[in-house]
Amino acid sequence: MKKIALGICSSISIYKACEIIRSFQKENCEVRVIMTANAARLISPRLFSALTGRRVIVGLFEDEIPDEITHVELAREISLLLVAPATANMIGKFASGIADDFLSTFHLAAKCPILIAPAMNEAMYLHKQTQSNIKKLREMGIRFVEPEKGYLACKDEGWGRLAPVGKIVNMSLQLLRKSQSFVGKTFLITAGPTREYSDPVRYLSNPSSGKMGYELAGEALQRGAEVILVSGPTHIIPPPGARVKWVQTAEEMEREVGRHFPKADVLIMAAAVADYKFSTVSSQKIKKQKKSQTIHLVQTLDILQKFGKKKGKRILVGFAAETERIKENALKKAIQKNLDMIVANDIKKKGSGFGSDYNQVTLVFPDGKSIRSSKRTKSEISAMIIDVIEEKIGKGS
Ligand code: CTP
Repeated sequence: MKKIALGICSSISIYKACEIIRSFQKENCEVRVIMTANAARLISPRLFSALTGRRVIVGLFEDEIPDEITHVELAREISLLLVAPATANMIGKFASGIADDFLSTFHLAAKCPILIAPAMNEAMYLHKQTQSNIKKLREMGIRFVEPEKGYLACKDEGWGRLAPVGKIVNMSLQLLRKSQSFVGKTFLITAGPTREYSDPVRYLSNPSSGKMGYELAGEALQRGAEVILVSGPTHIIPPPGARVKWVQTAEEMEREVGRHFPKADVLIMAAAVADYKFSTVSSQKIKKQKKSQTIHLVQTLDILQKFGKKKGKRILVGFAAETERIKENALKKAIQKNLDMIVANDIKKKGSGFGSDYNQVTLVFPDGKSIRSSKRTKSEISAMIIDVIEEKIGKGS
């Protein structure tokens, strides 16, 4: 039995929440209702308690919360957070990270997929601020069931009517299924740069931020996978739930990948691994001596190529950072490294790639087929990549 948290805000369409609850129950899902204080003034929480057989959560304080359940405990139990109806106010709070009631606090603690069904007056829905909040949340991976045009409570015709219950429930069930698609699967994902030291204070590296690999890890986690994230040094926070293994050099990354590879179903090498390292590493700081200095570099081991040879039934995904003949170079790498897919990106393009929140990629397959994305957030790109992996796993490849 799946548990769904249903967030209910104060909109006239609040009565439709009863039908949403009933539909979930017919699908054998347990519903835990969270109401905002204003919603509880419109309809008594007792109605929803009667429907769900559980007390409704309204306030943030102990005496207001049934069974003394905390937002963190509830976040662990549920597989989907649906907010229906969602007001402009709650969407604004989610978009800004405000946490001043149970629902907005719970949103920050929830690791499961989130679906929002807005309902409000047309002017509020089409207001630039609301649209910008929705865009921001979409870019963070939150899904929306668009409201429809129709007769509104304010006696106007317009956009802002809560989407039909059937549509909301169907999308919720789809997300619920997705949240289970990788249960029992282990994803091994590398991210960030590596550092190759010449002495204790100097190293060779690159500007990889780790964002792409971390987004992929978050997406796989949301779909139920166990995720081992082998990360080079970054300044960003790993997604909650990932088992993070910190490394610095290509050699350490290879060792860590090797340790977890046997139990991995999927290996995604999103890390920007240094191709060269210093032929010798001084244990002491190298002193400034000559006017010019020649350094001698040797190749690091190609981690992906090594594990490509031991692929077995695993799905292997690589990245290709290119500056020219993008697809052609990526295809060569996919074949050479025995990959199922390579994600190619043009690192010369402004505003995407290294360090950016955006990316524009071409997914290249070893048979020469490819899929090109538009410029999208790394969160959206990661969902696109993981969708392809999900399809491959579904087909049993
Ligand atoms: N890779 C790796 N080990 C290395 C170098 C790269 O596992 N020592 C992986 C990267 O994580 C990436 C893929 O191989 O998934 C391609 O990396 P890229 O740097 O684009 O290509 P290279 O094979 O290093 O070729 P080149 O630098 O000549 O383009």
